[in-house]
Parts: sequence; structure tokens; C-alpha cells
Amino acid sequence: MAIISSKKHPPEPGKKPKSKREKAKSSPPNENLLQPQAAKDEEGKPEESIRPQRFADYIGQKDLKDVLAIAIEAAKSRGEVLDHLLLYGPPGLGKTTMAMILAAEMEVNYKITSAPALERPRDIMGLLVNIKPGDILFIDEIHRLSRMTEEILYPAMEDFRLDITVGKGASARTRSIPLSKFTLVGATTRVGALTSPLRDRFGLIQRLRFYEVDELSQIVLRSSKLLKTPVSDDGAAEIARRARGTPRIANRLLKRVRDYAEVKKSGEITEEVAGEALQLFQVDPCGLDWTDRRMLSVIIEQFNGGPVGLETVAAATGEDTQTIEEVYEPYLMQIGYLHRTPRGRVATPAAYKHLGFKPPNEQLSLL
Ligand code: ADE
Repeated sequence: MAIISSKKHPPEPGKKPKSKREKAKSSPPNENLLQPQAAKDEEGKPEESIRPQRFADYIGQKDLKDVLAIAIEAAKSRGEVLDHLLLYGPPGLGKTTMAMILAAEMEVNYKITSAPALERPRDIMGLLVNIKPGDILFIDEIHRLSRMTEEILYPAMEDFRLDITVGKGASARTRSIPLSKFTLVGATTRVGALTSPLRDRFGLIQRLRFYEVDELSQIVLRSSKLLKTPVSDDGAAEIARRARGTPRIANRLLKRVRDYAEVKKSGEITEEVAGEALQLFQVDPCGLDWTDRRMLSVIIEQFNGGPVGLETVAAATGEDTQTIEEVYEPYLMQIGYLHRTPRGRVATPAAYKHLGFKPPNEQLSLL
């Protein structure tokens, strides 16, 4: 079945330490705590219990919340459905959460699915004919819709109509079935990969940005209360600094640090405990993991800091180009460690310093 999740509107709420360079070369850890994509076991209950349910609980993304609050109030006062909304940005920033909150604030039901689950035309047709007035249909990874599914969506989005072709060849006829008025919320990490006819059918197109450290600290403190785990402000900030601007990563690190604090310490997460635990889990003070460090060290050591092509970086790290572009690079660019240029990727002086290399201009001045 095409639906991933569906709900009535949500309820209220002794070895020599390795040098920095050696660490960049060591082998990758098995568990990747810093992947922003949700792991399979995170899609269930524990994640749900800390997910904010209303705008009032949702920390960060102020501009987006302001825009949506106005759209909601206007739609409600006119008794209309909310305009179709496209949310884009790196994974783990809260696109699904935002769609659930919209449903709660509009007091409507929602259905959640993703483009890969809508392979056959009948998958999307089944969802559309069962939709109730005002419902929110959330489609994740919307840039991956098949062409046929996309074409079914056009009249559904524009005129709330499902066009079905009956018969074949010369005797084929199109029949239109009226649909309930609904809101499509699409989510994507690659807004540029959407076809323009699809993109043009969204009334609202909004970006989610990386979170500031103080926003992530507040998120860690909120989650720790819900998880009944004592965390000091400094402990929360230590986790926040290493969470790559991403709430999903912050909450995942919190859970791992909680385990460490309970097993190895008194249970309270202080700055020291969080620092020790995250060092053990190979999450560096800026939140970089093995792949980030390997990418940067390859560019620096083998290509004089770049520019170097994406394919070369991918081959050196064993990651595919898409994951590098969508998952790793956005954060490295955000913190100023990497530039994308027309000729390839370039490591910045800040990246040199972070990995323990001499930045290029300092090397020149030494000569
Ligand atoms: N948990 C995950 N994302 C959150 C957010 N933006 N606000 C509060 N708690 C969260």
C-alpha cells in the first residue's frame, strides 16, 4: 500500500592518541550517528514521543513558521483548504514534522507517503479517491515521482480532479472524477530536480535551513525532559555543537550520550560527559564524521586543496555522488569548510586548520 503513515489530526502534546590527520585516514565506524536520514528503527515510537505536535512546541525555523501561520489563519478564516506547499532543504530538518503540525493546526487529517511508494498509477489514485475534504497529503522525496504519477497529480492539484483513461487505442476515453479539496505537501532535498510543471503547481515554496547551535540546545533540553534524562545547559550545548545543524542528529546523539551517562557515569549529561561520549562515538567537535574528514583530507593531500571533481571525491570516500551532494556537502559548505566551484570542490583554510594541516597561504609564507 502506498501510505506510510496516516493519522487523525495529532493530539496535543592505553594507546597513543591518534593525530587529527590519522583520524581522517582511519577506517569508517560501523554505526553512522551523523547520517541525517532517519534510520529504520527511528521511524517508530521513540521518535514520535519527542516530535513537536504544534507550532508552539516547534523550536527554530522562525521565518517558515511565520509564513505558515499566516497562510493557516487566512485559509481558516475563508473556510478554504491550505495552498499546496513545497518544503525543501537537507534531510533531518523537520519537513515531515512540519506537515504533521500543519494538519494539527488546520484540524484536519493527514496521510504520509513517499515517491518511491507511488510507483504504479493506482497507488496515487487510491490515495486521491480516499482523501477527505481539507486533508493533507504529504509526499516525501517528491522529486522522485514517476512521470505517470506526476501527470495524475497535475489535474488533482489544480482542479481537484482525477482523469482516468478508459479503454485502449482509438476507443480510449478520458473520464474525470471529482476529488475532495485537499492540500499536497511535497518535501524534497533537491528542489532543482523537480519538473517545472510540478513546481509551478505549489502555491507556497519554502526552504528549511540548518539550525543554530542555541536552537539545537533548546531542542536537546526539550527532548531530554520528555525522555526524563537530566542534562545540564552545557551538556546540551556540547551535543548541539556536534549535531550538524540538524535536530534529528541532535536527538540521536542525545540518546547515545544518555546510554553512556547511565552506564559509565551517574546518569547526568554534563558538558564533560557529553564530550567524552561523543569522542568515543567518533563525532568530532564540529560534528564531522569519517566521510567528511576523508573527503576534505583527500582534496587537501592529493589535490592541493582543489578544485577537484565530485566523481573523484566520491571514489576516494566510497560514497555515491548524490549522497555527497545532498548529505555531506551542504553542511560542509554551511560551516565554511568547502566551496563548490564550476571547476570542482575546494577545501577552505578553515578545513585545513580543522584537520591539522597548514593552510596554503601559511605554507607559502614559510617558503
Ligand atoms: N525535535 C525535532 N525537531 C524539533 C524542533 N524543531 N523543535 C522541537 N523539538 C524538535
